[in-house]
Amino acid sequence: MKPRQLGNLTVSEIGMGCMGFSHGYGPVPERDYSIAAIRQAFEYGCTFFDTAEVYGTEQFYPGHNEQLVGAALEPLRKQVVLASKLHFTDSNIPPVSGDLDTVTAATAAATAEGKDSGNSVLLMPLAALDQAYLDSIYDILKRHLIKSLENLRTDYLDLYYLHRLHDFIPVQAVAWGMGRLKQEGFILGWGLSQVTREVIAAAHEVTPVNAVQNLYSMLERDCESEVEPFCLEHNIGLVSFSPIASGLLSGKVTVNTDFSAADDVRKFVPQLSAENIKGNQPILELIQRYADLKQATPAQISLAWMLHKYPNVVPIPGSKNQERIQENLQADRVCLTRSEFNELETALNACTVYGHRGINESQQRSFGNNWKK
Ligand SMILES: NC(=O)c1ccc[n+]([C@@H]2O[C@H](COP(=O)([O-])OP(=O)(O)OC[C@H]3O[C@@H](n4cnc5c(N)ncnc54)[C@H](OP(=O)(O)O)[C@@H]3O)[C@@H](O)[C@H]2O)c1
Repeated sequence: MKPRQLGNLTVSEIGMGCMGFSHGYGPVPERDYSIAAIRQAFEYGCTFFDTAEVYGTEQFYPGHNEQLVGAALEPLRKQVVLASKLHFTDSNIPPVSGDLDTVTAATAAATAEGKDSGNSVLLMPLAALDQAYLDSIYDILKRHLIKSLENLRTDYLDLYYLHRLHDFIPVQAVAWGMGRLKQEGFILGWGLSQVTREVIAAAHEVTPVNAVQNLYSMLERDCESEVEPFCLEHNIGLVSFSPIASGLLSGKVTVNTDFSAADDVRKFVPQLSAENIKGNQPILELIQRYADLKQATPAQISLAWMLHKYPNVVPIPGSKNQERIQENLQADRVCLTRSEFNELETALNACTVYGHRGINESQQRSFGNNWKK
């Protein structure tokens, strides 16, 4: 498969989201099947694997998915790019300390913002933060990382993301801690997930960001306006999560698809309500037309579209089915010509999108509860 860059990291242009083997889409396959599926993905050319410490918490325990990925990729470790994510769960997060005026003003602003929109972001210049405070954030990052490394059976991570911003930890402090982990050789690069341009810029100034993992698909194009241009300009990769819109863009999800199993997030996804599935049919029909034209599947068209559109986008479709994993990875063989892409894009722009994946995921600070809003 062709390579792409996430900053200084080289990855296959389509990666593999491993979450579904432990979390989010209902019952999971047998462990041996999952391990074989992950190894097969490598045989199909995938060198980029995505997991997170929280995947598995609902059905199993935190770290379940990392352990599975670690077991599958241990023999291939040097040939793959492993990405995992940290989620601040610690109850003993230290209060921000540093230049008192700056801290007070920034905290007050974030609190006020949070009260109004539920979308508080604490941004503070690095110089305003105490060294002792920065060290304590580094200690937390390292504690989480060491556990992930154990789970993943490795002594370094290629890419370590902050899964979600913490309301009261300035992203600059996280960026500083990630920079130190990088200097010490524990990680080769770092990233952020579900963040705005403003947050990426603040973090990138402290420690260059390799990749931003945001929701991006033909049905969720928010990041095209600000995030993607900033990433392109600054040599940051945009890793697209849920690139098939939780399966909807494959054309296989219908109003009769059953999402009632425990730990199936699709029952909370507004875009997957019967009404919105019906509303989005013109988009699915459009994709099907291109699938017929290119002798491809709709899921492949949805991936080929974003690969064509931006050189720094790397989708990480998630499937726990070996055939569909192969299908998704083979989307790199579908080449849209410039005129085919332009026609598809124009037609897509003319369509109305019904529903969204959830509440604005940037506002999601914990996993589970927000889906139910
Ligand atoms: N950073 C974040 O906050 C965040 C959030 C969510 C996900 N992620 C990461 O992104 C990865 C991908 O996201 P996702 O799994 O939510 O989205 P996705 O790839 O858009 O959708 C996955 C769903 O689509 C189905 N599917 C996948 N390929 C298919 C195909 N070719 N035909 C028919 N159905 C297909 C899967 O079912 P089957 O398993 O039955 O094939 C699954 O139900 C995750 O694995 C995870 O690593 C990150």
